[in-house]
Amino acid sequence: MDDINKNLMDHEYDGIQEFNNPLPLWWLGIFIGTVIFAFIYWIHYEIAGAPTQLAELKSDLAVIAEMKKNSPGSGAADTEDDLLKLISSQEALAAGKLVYDSKCAACHGVELQGIIGPNLVDDYWIHGQGKLAQMSVTVRQGVLDKGMPGWESVLNSDEIRSVVAFIGSNRGAKPANAKAPQGEKIAVE
Ligand code: HEC
Repeated sequence: MDDINKNLMDHEYDGIQEFNNPLPLWWLGIFIGTVIFAFIYWIHYEIAGAPTQLAELKSDLAVIAEMKKNSPGSGAADTEDDLLKLISSQEALAAGKLVYDSKCAACHGVELQGIIGPNLVDDYWIHGQGKLAQMSVTVRQGVLDKGMPGWESVLNSDEIRSVVAFIGSNRGAKPANAKAPQGEKIAVE
């Protein structure tokens, strides 16, 4: 009884006394925290005009769409111009040669002269008239029923681009033991 009386406040109205029952500190802490959070939130979004989550999503999606456009691995095709430009990059050609030597030479020959796979330096092409953009598709998807593996899951976009540029840079070479032409002769510009 004494303990309870200690918590009684010292006023009394019509015999009604008030019991002092303070909120636990942890509860108060969280409550004050939410008030402060709400205030900062309000300043941030309503006064400072920060982008809403929807606006952030929109701008993130725009960034992703832009990245997709520039990366063939995610579905968008390389353009002929982009690939042609790569041919003048020594760095890309060196990277392309590394990929070629380790992944492609076994079938297409170290000098691209053709073994199991077709000659890649002559003017005869089975797919897409030897356009680099088409090569990038062929390399990515392969021609599975003809024995050309798809490389999409093995090589990243940069590797595929650079190996295509490497092949393009060798166009017109005259390797010894060149494999007989396959496909259609293309008009050489
Ligand atoms: C297992 C053997 C093999 C390997 C490894 C291989 N290819 Fe091929 N490739 C082929 C065959 C076979 C074809 C012919 C497909 C056809 O007849 O449609 C071909 C076709 C191609 C063509 C199209 C040629 C044309 O005339 O249109 C390109 C480009 C090509 N390969 C690039 C590559 C690259 C780049 C690599 C390495 C990343 C590679 N290949 C690895 C067997 C291979």
